[in-house]
Amino acid sequence: MIDPHHIVLIGFMGSGKTTVGHLVAEKLSWPFVDTDALVVEEAGLSIPDIFATEGEAGFRERESAVLERLAGEAPCVIATGGGIVTQPRNAPLLRSLGFVVWLSASEADIYARVSRNRNRPLLQTPDPRKTIHDLLEQRRPLYESFAHLTIETQGLEPEEIAYGVCESARHYYGAP
Ligand code: S3P
Repeated sequence: MIDPHHIVLIGFMGSGKTTVGHLVAEKLSWPFVDTDALVVEEAGLSIPDIFATEGEAGFRERESAVLERLAGEAPCVIATGGGIVTQPRNAPLLRSLGFVVWLSASEADIYARVSRNRNRPLLQTPDPRKTIHDLLEQRRPLYESFAHLTIETQGLEPEEIAYGVCESARHYYGAP
């Protein structure tokens, strides 16, 4: 049976899901998991290698399988890959996992955070800034529709965002 009890962070690449997720997990003394890390562990391949050998479709299959498996786990804080919302089949899965928070970041912040990292195959394009812009346009409505709560992260420190996630989750789960 699915018991919705996790805290799930969604948002674009470089929006701070992993950093904030670690902090939230620390505050609640819950385990932290990262769907990208689980996919990599299970595949025994890096994300660029999965994209190169299995294509984006193969990566998405693996990502959905990880989500399904997490439904049966004890409460944890889950950071997801930025494209998890692109698969309609993940909508009921994510919602069934628990409280879903969208960490919304500005295009400029995202670009500043991801521009030196070559581990994101979708951004290995001639004009990554435009790619970020276009993907954000496509995905914004999806993040919005998947999330119970949106946090505009611009100008906030990870600690402040983590505090907001914890307090909202407490409220969502009806804790005193
Ligand atoms: C992706 C985001 C990445 C990773 C993969 C695809 C995307 O995760 O899952 O490179 O489609 O936005 P992060 O959001 O953790 O960078």
